[in-house]
Amino acid sequence: MTKNEVETLETKWVKSSEGTIDKKAIEEAGRVIRSGGLVAFPTETVYGLGGDALRPDSSKKIYAAKGRPSDNPLIVHICDVADMKKIVREVPPQAYVLAQHFWPGPLTMIMKKSSIVPPETTGGLDTVAVRFPDHEIALSFIREAGGFVAAPSANVSGRPSPTLAKYVFEDMNGKIEMLLDGGEVGIGVESTIIDLTEEVPVILRPGHITLEMLQEVLGEVCLDPTMLECGSGQAPRAPGMKYKHYAPKGQLTIVSGTPVSVRDKIKQLLQSDRKQGFKTGVIVSREEAGIYEADAVKITGEKEDMAAVARSLFRILREFDDEKVERMYVQAYTQDGIGQAVMNRILKAAGHKIIEVE
Ligand code: TXA
Ligand code: MG
Repeated sequence: MTKNEVETLETKWVKSSEGTIDKKAIEEAGRVIRSGGLVAFPTETVYGLGGDALRPDSSKKIYAAKGRPSDNPLIVHICDVADMKKIVREVPPQAYVLAQHFWPGPLTMIMKKSSIVPPETTGGLDTVAVRFPDHEIALSFIREAGGFVAAPSANVSGRPSPTLAKYVFEDMNGKIEMLLDGGEVGIGVESTIIDLTEEVPVILRPGHITLEMLQEVLGEVCLDPTMLECGSGQAPRAPGMKYKHYAPKGQLTIVSGTPVSVRDKIKQLLQSDRKQGFKTGVIVSREEAGIYEADAVKITGEKEDMAAVARSLFRILREFDDEKVERMYVQAYTQDGIGQAVMNRILKAAGHKIIEVE
């Protein structure tokens, strides 16, 4: 085997029953991590691809399995707030405030790293991303694994983050030792990332914990201006945000405007694409499902249910790929609450292709 080849492994897929996984399987997963192997596991946001965060060889394996550039740092998952001190050089007071309000939960904090965290895990940066997930299986697995699990989302680089175990298996079969299947995740978009190394905390990636929620407990918080990638020209501060993400194989287009004008425009675009022989798709609410003619009509949930849009978005993008859909449309959603995270992911998936109608 040459240096860059990934060894082919037998991937053991462990199913859960009623949201829990057999204790023996969790212990086995912990042993795999402690001996330098990789295990995919569910969290409340998306599935993670875990390795021992304190072992440089494990982090290297994660990059190889994902096909991810090694300058893109990993998030270290913990299962006890007290463990934060072991991997962070000096914990800022805001971190305790945030932990108290939002942990366990979908919030990742960036702080200066301590010397036990190898540069391989942090992409060479002197900071570390720390997250305490709110998921029973994740927490018992992290505990068995030794307390510090480095994990990016468990997709091949550039594909949508997996919200179901079958998508992890699709991307990671043969590259990891085990897959802990916890069923469909609850949130569906990755954690909010907040950088605490600056005087004013900065949100580097929007998620379920919103700017408003963070401002309420911290006071001043700002958004990284490059976050929505609206052509600011600056490099994003979360290295991962500069890479092409969540890109479906076909072209996704966002249509923005009043409800009526958006509906008419999408209908017209679908019709013209179908005439040209393209396989078409549309993302809609249950109430709107009947009004479009497309090869793939994907329903998120009830109208205005943004949590349902967040939960189903990555699954729908993967289904479009599986069904070889070539032209896809989605309305621009509200940027309130979780809508900000949803639109951030949709803009990336669409390569920022957005049509404004009156
Ligand atoms: O919800 C989540 O956060 C999921 C689950 C598995 O926990 N994880 C996840 O990891 O989304 P990943 O690797 O796909 O995204 C992590 C992001 C990347 O954009 C990365 O560049 C950024 O976090 N990041 C990690 N460490 C950082 C650091 N020290 N400074 C700035 N950005 C960092
Ligand atoms: Mg990711």
